[in-house]
Amino acid sequence: MWLFCSLISCFLTGGVAVLPAPQNLTVLSTNMKHLLMWNPVAQPMETVFYSVEYQGEFESLYMSHVWIPSSQCSPTSGLACDITDDVIATVPYNFRVRATLGSRTSAWSTLEHPFNRNSTVLTAPRMEVTEHGLHLVIKLEDLGPQFEFRVVYWRREPGTMEHIKVVKNGDIPVHLETMEPGAVYCVKAQALVKLIGRHSAFSQTQCVEMPEESLPLALALFAFVGFLLILMVVLLSIWKTGQLLRYSCCPAVVLPDTLKITSSSQELITCSKEDVDACAVAVLASEHLFGVWISDWRKGLMD
Ligand SMILES: *[C@@H]1O[C@H](CO)[C@@H](O)[C@H](O)[C@H]1NC(C)=O
Ligand SMILES: *[C@@H]1O[C@H](CO)[C@@H](O)[C@H](O)[C@H]1NC(C)=O
Repeated sequence: MWLFCSLISCFLTGGVAVLPAPQNLTVLSTNMKHLLMWNPVAQPMETVFYSVEYQGEFESLYMSHVWIPSSQCSPTSGLACDITDDVIATVPYNFRVRATLGSRTSAWSTLEHPFNRNSTVLTAPRMEVTEHGLHLVIKLEDLGPQFEFRVVYWRREPGTMEHIKVVKNGDIPVHLETMEPGAVYCVKAQALVKLIGRHSAFSQTQCVEMPEESLPLALALFAFVGFLLILMVVLLSIWKTGQLLRYSCCPAVVLPDTLKITSSSQELITCSKEDVDACAVAVLASEHLFGVWISDWRKGLMD
């Protein structure tokens, strides 16, 4: 009679109204990212929370009563838990999940087979192959610090050898080779994970064709150098003309009498009084013009 009563009272307070345990625990693991998933415990109009705990190999073997709460899901209202940070060694891990609703708690549901991260699915890495000038450049998908990539590339021509380069990081463009104009180069890559001693399949081969001689660039360079040369010649001749005018018509120093050219027949250029005045103006004017021209040219460059 007492037993019956206590059972009834227990039932009324809700301690016995059993919450079903989550079913169908599975681990989805791709590229070393691990996700534990389970089926929902349906409770209409209520939010059920789930707690996840795990045991590594050491706890399983020597301390089977010790379960460690998962870093991400203690608790969670979702139906999946990112357990990547909990799995820190390549050994079997046990996981268990239970549901909680208010003060009611379900039994634990345990993963059928322990999970080892060496079973992760490795996908062929995404890659971008481009040419910059004559440089063959590859950029690989960023899959995290545990990943390296083996890149195989070759010139598409009979009898050429394959080259292999190991790239440490994804997400950073890496120079593979300086190429010959007009040639076609092909690249494929696979992901390597040393921690678990496995690698993915190779990505699909991508080929890029180098442009023929980069003629337009060479021409542009040639034209620019030519322009600079002509400019220098013009500037030099303007300067030289100015100098000539100044020294022949407008002497800056008073020469000793012995050095003075007295005979008009010996004069290189005949300079009358008016000529000297005029040439002084001309020299000044040419220098002024030159200054204006230079400043215009600078403005033009800056625009
Ligand atoms: C178990 O979970 C997997 C992955 O979430 C799902 O594909 C499968 O349908 C589920 N099985 C049942 C019986 O619910
Ligand atoms: C993972 O490791 C375990 C134990 O070291 C081994 O028995 C199993 O074959 C490995 N699995 C894979 C896919 O490498």
